[in-house]
Amino acid sequence: MNHAVLSSSRPDVSSQTPALEVRGLGKSFPIGGLLSRQSFRALHGVDLTIGRGEIVALVGESGSGKSTLARCVARLEKPSSGAILLDGVDVLNRDRVHASRAFRSQLQMVFQDPFGSLNPAHRVEHFLRRSLAIHRTGGSSDTATQQRLEELMTTVGLQADILNSYPHELSGGQRQRVAIARTLAVEPRVILADEPTSMLDVSVRIGVLNLMRKLRDEQGISMLYITHDLASARYLADRTAVMFAGELVEEGESLDLLAKPAHPYTQLLVSAVPDPARAGSYDPVRRAELRQAVMASTSCAFDGDPNQTCSAEEPVRHRVGDPENRHWVRCHLYHPRAGAGGHALAAEPTLATQRTAKQTP
Ligand SMILES: Nc1ncnc2c1ncn2[C@@H]1O[C@H](COP(=O)(O)OP(=O)(O)O)[C@@H](O)[C@H]1O
Ligand SMILES: [Mg+2]
Repeated sequence: MNHAVLSSSRPDVSSQTPALEVRGLGKSFPIGGLLSRQSFRALHGVDLTIGRGEIVALVGESGSGKSTLARCVARLEKPSSGAILLDGVDVLNRDRVHASRAFRSQLQMVFQDPFGSLNPAHRVEHFLRRSLAIHRTGGSSDTATQQRLEELMTTVGLQADILNSYPHELSGGQRQRVAIARTLAVEPRVILADEPTSMLDVSVRIGVLNLMRKLRDEQGISMLYITHDLASARYLADRTAVMFAGELVEEGESLDLLAKPAHPYTQLLVSAVPDPARAGSYDPVRRAELRQAVMASTSCAFDGDPNQTCSAEEPVRHRVGDPENRHWVRCHLYHPRAGAGGHALAAEPTLATQRTAKQTP
């Protein structure tokens, strides 16, 4: 077992067992009805490590498998293969059938739609009291529980009188803060946040991101932050991992990865982020064409030539640039520049070669 994580500029994760480690995770969904043996591979060979107090962003376009990964890790979906280690303990082996209360108290999930996770018939206080009771984190007296409720509200930046409100009386941002308070009631070590801000107005998104950062800084909670918004990944996450068609294709320190994307898919994602420094380089038509080619592909759309090694073998990880940045890429089109500290960007595929790829079975 190798728990070594390369050095990081922020949290000191190098000498500790990671908070969460996902190894070779795979997930296939059956398709085509009960009698069909066909399946759709939503995840394949995913390896991901989150150190203690570290925030890792998982980015990728809609349908790439981000939520499936989070749902497998949260035990809401049964993985087809692989292992999930929480604080070094293999949880799939420990809790074979259902996720145990011990598991739930270590790991919590925050969803995109906070309204969907809050029963409209109950007041905010009900949700929080219930979590405190289930996980026995409310203290031994009514006074202690009341104090804990008020503390939770303060932590997530809400007034205590919100405890008496119904979910429909709250704004989107307040609801997401309540959903976060409910996960905090459990005192988790890891939070998986699946697009927690994508249904919020732009003006309140930053507040929720800042709250997540505060929880990491003050309580050392580790987080997987799922988003398709690269700017927020850069703002919040220490590291960013890129998912394409159910596989991680690139990962690194957020600033380095987003400044020097090495996989053509990451380059495609980055090219969609408005950036004054790259003024004039963004070609929306070109991007739309590339995106269409990528989304129409069942495997790697950048694998232009069926005779290339891309088709036959899985690419291996290449380190990109300075080891400090823990940046790697998996792509046959990536060629490290020999003897140089920098790296060569992967070639952008031509649309002609992509058409060939799409015809390949
Ligand atoms: N329960 C399911 N049954 C069949 N296919 C599913 C199921 N859940 C997800 N998928 C498929 O898995 C792929 C990845 O979905 P998802 O993880 O939701 O992607 P993302 O969160 O990145 O948008 C999609 O093609 C989706 O249709
Ligand atoms: Mg999703």
